[in-house]
Amino acid sequence: MTTSATRTNEEIISLFDQYVIPNYGRYPVCLVRGEGSYVWDAEGKRYLDLFPGWGCNILGYSPPLIVEAIQQQAAQLIHVPNTWYIEAQGEFAEAICSRSFGKAFFCNSGAEAIEGAIKLARLHTPEEKYKMITFQNGFHGRTFAAVTATAQPKYHQGLGPLMAGFQYAPHNDLQAVRDLIDDETCGILIEPVQGEGGVNTPDEGFLQGLRDLADEHDLVLIFDEVQTGMGRLGTWYGYQHFGVQPDMMTLAKGVAGGVACGAIIAKDEIAPSLRPGMHASTFGGNPLAMAAGVATVQTIEQENLLEHSQAMSQRFAQHFEPLLEELPIVKELRIVGMMIGIDLTVPATPIVGKCMERGLLLNATHDTVVRMLPALNITAEQVDEGAAILIEELRSLAEQS
Ligand SMILES: Cc1ncc(COP(=O)(O)O)c(C=O)c1O
Repeated sequence: MTTSATRTNEEIISLFDQYVIPNYGRYPVCLVRGEGSYVWDAEGKRYLDLFPGWGCNILGYSPPLIVEAIQQQAAQLIHVPNTWYIEAQGEFAEAICSRSFGKAFFCNSGAEAIEGAIKLARLHTPEEKYKMITFQNGFHGRTFAAVTATAQPKYHQGLGPLMAGFQYAPHNDLQAVRDLIDDETCGILIEPVQGEGGVNTPDEGFLQGLRDLADEHDLVLIFDEVQTGMGRLGTWYGYQHFGVQPDMMTLAKGVAGGVACGAIIAKDEIAPSLRPGMHASTFGGNPLAMAAGVATVQTIEQENLLEHSQAMSQRFAQHFEPLLEELPIVKELRIVGMMIGIDLTVPATPIVGKCMERGLLLNATHDTVVRMLPALNITAEQVDEGAAILIEELRSLAEQS
């Protein structure tokens, strides 16, 4: 298989060493080309990616309809500011909202969507209400409001003073949320399934309990669906999987099939509180992202990927469930649609390295969790191939532990 890089992995890494701020821990590999769930590095090595684009490549690498949509759109208009109407933005808003609710505001990333949602919650509620309740082990992004909303102290180190008005409740503890609510609380912000925090699922009735508390106290309930949205849980949006409707949701990652895009979806009665002049994003809703977003929705629909991904989720579960009995290092399995966490009794990072050597890409999060966010269109053969490698590596780790 040919690649399009003109340099080797090592040469590309040395360019980074010289010119790129070293704020990321990067693997020593340069990826150059991908197709579906496979991706190739600069030296032609092929990897099966069960964590493509940290969940952004919801349809895998370079899905054909999206490539075509971007190419056509680029030849017509690359950027248009929001002082003008463009058909693609209207179409993409319709595609999302007709499958969920309300109205859309577009931006470029998850953190930006969170920032906007927090502003909108404050704008929509009376002036004295500004506090937002979020959850331990949650993750909402790296801008100041988003990182403050993220309760994990490791993300706050050296950044203080943080933004005022955020309070953290233990996940799945309804009484703790009730105790935090006061006259200054404007909203509750939660991921339907916590991603970065270890694929943590809500207890039965927890999200509905938050809905009830929000109704009782006139709070805005925001679901951060940056990771759970766009088919990830086997439904268009995560809230539909749990049957609890938020007042707002934030989207990003896979929403435009891997093209940078974020969105806030707000109920019709809340949306007008984002008045002209109160919020904006120069690149938000740009033609390329909007065309890619429309093509993403079309692909998921035309290829029945909600149903397909549910079947693949069950296939992963069939592979991994026996490990709970077989391997003492496997503590818990958490699978919702194409969001998969295997919680170990030992650090998960070595497994990621071992699998990478064997051409399988995964993620480790929250110290002990092997995390996968496979593409919705992963094939049954690819599920089997990935699971086989991972299980072999887990067995050999169990032997050493
Ligand atoms: C649930 C959730 N919210 C927000 C974000 C931040 O998104 P971004 O990195 O696009 O700013 C992430 C990123 O991982 C996320 O998982």
